Formats: sequence, C-alpha cells, structure tokens
Amino acid sequence: MARLSQLALLANIAALLNIAQVAAYSVPKLHARALDGAGALRDSYDYVIIGGGAAGLTVGDRLSEDGKTTVLVIENGELANSPDIDNVRDQVTWDVRPWWVYNISSTPNKELENLQSFVLIANVVGGGSALNWMQCVRGTKEDYDRWGSFFGSGSSWSWEGMLPYFKVGLHFQTPSKDAVEQMPDLKYDESYWGSTSRLYAGWPTFQWPGIKYQFQLYKELPGVEVPEDSGAGETGVFWYPTFMDGEGSINRSYSRTGHWDDLNRANYDLLANTKVTKITLDGKKATGVVFRSSQTNSEDAKLTTIKANREVILSAGSIHSPQILQLSGIGPRKLLKSAGIKTKVDLPGVGQNFQDHTGIYFEVKFLNYTIRPNRRDDLQDPKFIAWADELWNANRTGPWSRAHWNTGAWLSLPTIAPKTYKSLSAKVSTQNAADYLPRDSHPTVIAGYQARLASLAKAIRSRDTIFYSHYFSGDEPVNYFTLEHPLSVGSVNINVTSPHSEPVVDYRTYSNPVDFDIMLELARFHRRVNVESPLLAQFQPVETLPGAHVTTREDWVAHMRRNTEPTAMHPSGTCAMMPLELGGVVDEELKVYGVEGLRVVDASVMSVIVGANLAQTVFAIAEKAADIIKNGGK
Ligand SMILES: *[C@@H]1O[C@H](CO)[C@@H](O)[C@H](O)[C@H]1NC(C)=O
Ligand SMILES: *[C@@H]1O[C@H](CO)[C@@H](O)[C@H](O)[C@H]1NC(C)=O
Ligand SMILES: *[C@@H]1O[C@H](CO)[C@@H](O)[C@H](O)[C@H]1NC(C)=O
Ligand SMILES: *[C@@H]1O[C@H](CO)[C@@H](O)[C@H](O)[C@H]1NC(C)=O
Ligand SMILES: *[C@@H]1O[C@H](CO)[C@@H](O)[C@H](O)[C@H]1NC(C)=O
Repeated sequence: MARLSQLALLANIAALLNIAQVAAYSVPKLHARALDGAGALRDSYDYVIIGGGAAGLTVGDRLSEDGKTTVLVIENGELANSPDIDNVRDQVTWDVRPWWVYNISSTPNKELENLQSFVLIANVVGGGSALNWMQCVRGTKEDYDRWGSFFGSGSSWSWEGMLPYFKVGLHFQTPSKDAVEQMPDLKYDESYWGSTSRLYAGWPTFQWPGIKYQFQLYKELPGVEVPEDSGAGETGVFWYPTFMDGEGSINRSYSRTGHWDDLNRANYDLLANTKVTKITLDGKKATGVVFRSSQTNSEDAKLTTIKANREVILSAGSIHSPQILQLSGIGPRKLLKSAGIKTKVDLPGVGQNFQDHTGIYFEVKFLNYTIRPNRRDDLQDPKFIAWADELWNANRTGPWSRAHWNTGAWLSLPTIAPKTYKSLSAKVSTQNAADYLPRDSHPTVIAGYQARLASLAKAIRSRDTIFYSHYFSGDEPVNYFTLEHPLSVGSVNINVTSPHSEPVVDYRTYSNPVDFDIMLELARFHRRVNVESPLLAQFQPVETLPGAHVTTREDWVAHMRRNTEPTAMHPSGTCAMMPLELGGVVDEELKVYGVEGLRVVDASVMSVIVGANLAQTVFAIAEKAADIIKNGGK
C-alpha cells in the first residue's frame, strides 16, 4: 500500500469514527463455542492459543479435531458480524470498521526523513486473513530451504518439508472455462495443491483487458519464465488464485470460515474481545495466561488466569507475539530491566530481526488507454457501478467477481540487474553485521544477522529468489513495486516507560545502505519495462511520479527517501526460528528456547521473510506446527 492510500485510510477512519456505532454482536448458529466472557470458561484447557488470526484458528481447529482435546483461543479483536467482513468486490478495503485495525505509529524512520508510519495490523477474529487483499501466493523453494539452512542440513524446514502443508492447508479450485478465458498464458498444476481443507483458493471470472499487455511485457523479457504453477516455488510471471470460495460464491475464504465457522465442537472455545497481558510461568514451564477484557483501557481491569495443561501457543503476530513474551519476562535482559520487568528467561532475540516488504510508489498515466482510465473515479461513477452490478447479478461475473490482483511478476536480481547483481552480492558478503544494527545489539543477534547477510548475498546471485515484485492490475495508472528481500532489519520492543501500551515499532528501513542500491536497480528496471517498452507506446505512457527528470542515483535516492513505504503490511521475523547462538527465539519445533510448554506459531518465526504475500505461508506454518504438536511432525 502506498503512502497516499494510507492517508486516505486515515481520513476514512477519522470520518467513520464520528458516526461509528459499535457493531451488533451476533453469533452464527453453528460454530465452536464463542464464549460470552470469562465466566463461561472451563477450569483449564489442554492448549491455550493467544491470537485468533490466520495461524491461531488453524492450529486451534487441528488440535481440537479429535473432539476431545480442549482448546481455547483468546483474541483481542471482536468476532465480527460475518456479512461485515469485506468480500471480493474489485477493491477490498481495510477500513470497513476502524476498530478492526490497530493504530500504532512507528518510531521516526531515520532514512525516510523521520517518517512515522501507521502500522496496519488486524484486530479481529480471522486476523490478517480477514482483512487482507486475498493474494494467494507462496514464496520460492529457496525461501523455505533458507529457513532450514541455518540449522545445517537435514532440517524439515525446507521446500520439501513445507509442500505437504501447503497442500493440507488449501483446497484448490480448478478455474472454470470462463475464468480461464480471462487469463491468457495461465498455467496451473493441481499436484502443488490439496483438496481437503475448508480454506479455498479460487478464481474470478473477470480480469481487466489491459492485464494481457503487462503480462506480455514481462513474459518477453530475457530470463523470465512462466512456471508450471503459481505454487511451484519458482520465480517468473504467473497467474495465481484468490483466497475465495469460487464455487458459486465469491466470498472471502479465511481462517474463520476455514477453521472455525460451522465446527460444532464443544472442545474448541473462542474468547474474543480479550487481551492477554502475560504468560504465567512455573519455573521454566509455561502454565497458562493472564487476560482481561480488551474493551476497557483501564490498567486495573479485572485480570483472569486460565491454566494450560499441555501448552501455551503464541499466535499474536509479529507485533504482539514479541510484546507478550517480553511482558512475561522472556526477552532481552537489558530491555526488560529498564522496563522494570523481572527476567525469567534471557532471550536476546525476542523482538529483533523485524522485517517487512518495502514498497515504492511510482505512477504512470496512460493518455491513450480508455479501457478503464481511473478506477478510483469509476467507483464513484453510477454508470460504472450499474454496469458492474448488471454483470454480477446476471452471471456472477464482471469486476465484482475479483478481489485485487491475480497476476504479477516475481523476479530475481540476475534477471532485473544482469550487470550489477554480482557486485551487489560481493558488497553484501563483505559487510560487517554489527555496523547495521543498533549499537547495543547482543552478540548472538549480531551473529544471526551476519548469517542472514551471507545467505542473502547468495540469494542476490540466484535466479530462484525473488527480489522484485509487481502486481498487474491492467486498469489503474498507479504502479507499485516491492523489494521482497530487504537486507535492513528493525525491531519491535515494549515501551519501557509504559510496557502495556503498544510496542515500539522501529522499521529501520534502509539502515543497511545496500537496500538503496538494490531499490535503485528495481526502480530503473521498473521504468524500463512499464514506461519505455515499445509495446506500451500505443497507450502513450507518461510517468508522473517520480517523473522523467529523476535519473541519477542521487535523484533516485532522494525520491526513495520521500516515497518508500516501509511496510507492505507483512510484518515478520520478530520471534525467529534460528539456533539460539544466532539470536533465535524458537527451535525447529517452534518451541521457545529455555521455556517448556510454549511455542510461537505465526509470521514472527520466519527467520527471513518470504518473497511473497504472507498468508499462504502462514497457513502452511500453522498446519505444520499442528502436525508437530500432535505427531512430532514426522
Ligand atoms: C457470502 O457472503 C454473503 C455476504 O456476507 C452471504 O450473504 C452469503 O451467504 C455468503 N455465501 C456463502 C456461500 O457463504
Ligand atoms: C492513529 O494514530 C495517529 C497518530 O498517533 C493519530 O493521529 C490518529 O488520530 C489515530 N487514529 C485513530 C483512528 O485512532
Ligand atoms: C490510441 O491507440 C489507438 C489503438 O492503438 C490508435 O489507433 C490511436 O491512433 C491512438 N491515439 C492516439 C491519439 O495516439
Ligand atoms: C449472461 O450470460 C448469458 C449466457 O452466456 C448471456 O446471454 C447474457 O448476455 C449474460 N448477461 C450479461 C448481463 O452479461
Ligand atoms: C511510551 O508510552 C508513553 C506513554 O503512553 C508515550 O508517551 C511514549 O510516547 C511511548 N514511547 C514510545 C517510544 O512510543
């Protein structure tokens, strides 16, 4: 999301707040139990899961599947009225209900002229999967092999080790004839997918005609292939599905519909509107969690403790999982001490290694492109809406049948920067990690960053790791591309003067200066393809941002400082799965080091972010985690 749309979002939120009523709280008929308050709790549960997002509900469903094992999921946000959740309708928005997103402001971002950005994370049952743009993609093979590589050879965290869980996690729907006609060059191979999950990957029956030009542009570039499936774990240009049930409906498919709704299970409870304040420990064993209502800000709200007989599972996401660990006395000793929290387990990596995809705002207007010149205006245009309504009502097609995007380019650095990738790689491989981390970083955290830099230096030379991603919309003048493997890492730490208020989120964008060099290559490539290609000349492209006058490295860097979005709303890495001596927080079974009966299962365990939107990978991590917990994962 670009900065401008963040501003629009803030404006909308402000507008909505003036008229907002608290949503009617209504509970669907068939479901696992939604508890009305702490009074309805069992005395204890086998598993207590903190966070009812993409991962939490998936793990909750799998662990309670036997009908006996008792599971409680605790979620800070509300159990929304189902119809209020935004379904597929050409443009999904985050701001349906302002209270479904946290409003955290990041610390001033030094390299971005002290920009403080709005940290957009979900606060509703279903988590990010309830609010995201339904992009159903996974990373490349190397992304998953990289996770295991930090543990030496033979780790089950690898492409081969993840593929079965991608399959268990998603039910692939074969695109209909109408859908296929809308997607020239579509390739898919169902062997990369499953057919058992209640979570669906479906296809819209409408695409904007302009997309075919973009697809062609990229397909014809040297070194760019169309892989046999979007889920084949390869770079290239390809079509991919939407998280939606395409069989007669176009509804969002997310963790709630896939792993909670329609489960009539008395052993699977959900307590919404509830904030976890800490995990209780008996010695080094996690025994339960303390919580209070999230509907009150009062520090002296009534606290309740619930006991976990077997394990506590932390799935609160990359912003709140590290915060809850730190509040529980598990984290960097120095930080905890300055917050007046007694250290129970000194774990220096908690909250460090924060990563997100970094995007650049870029704008091209096509003067002779009349297919749909400006969709933001269209959405206000009664003629457009009438046309779209008619298509939808008659045949369940047209713009209302699609979410955001179904295709894009996912490319490696040798492909986009054939002349410079080797020198970029060499530069990274000689970097001294400590130079690019906060001054007081722990030696194990520095060692972990050094290991990541070595791995990424290799990735820069590889044709199988994505650095550049660009979605094709075919209908709007705004272009946006992202750096999928930034080198810079930030942190998420408790606020030492007010530990229970929102954590301090520091993106540290461009703190590793090679990210400027890589972004420069991405930007120049992006312009070459999207503005200067002969194929586009007929549409008369005019670059309005940054504009043709920006050419030198200096100009570009200045543009980047003012126009880089530090987040694509893909926070990850803050409870990294790495060896302890590399600043890791969890081991290969996702168990927190030094604590018994406590695991982390969410995007925070990614030691290096994947080169794709996170949801599909988070679902696979959760499926794998559930299997490890139930069967040892073998
Ligand atoms: C899809 O969503 C709409 C609006 O929430 C709802 O009325 C409808 O029942 C849903 N359809 C299916 C098949 O779930
Ligand atoms: C979000 O935070 C910003 C900055 O702290 C503030 O200006 C804005 O009013 C907040 N919006 C809401 C909806 O709370
Ligand atoms: C716009 O494009 C069409 C079709 O490619 C072409 O025939 C027409 O001459 C173009 N118009 C202008 C003003 O260039
Ligand atoms: C819906 O599909 C039918 C059959 O293909 C077609 O005759 C009709 O024109 C379509 N309706 C609209 C509004 O496109
Ligand atoms: C920490 O919390 C206090 C009190 O809410 C607030 O004034 C301060 O700005 C916060 N510090 C940071 C770095 O966010």
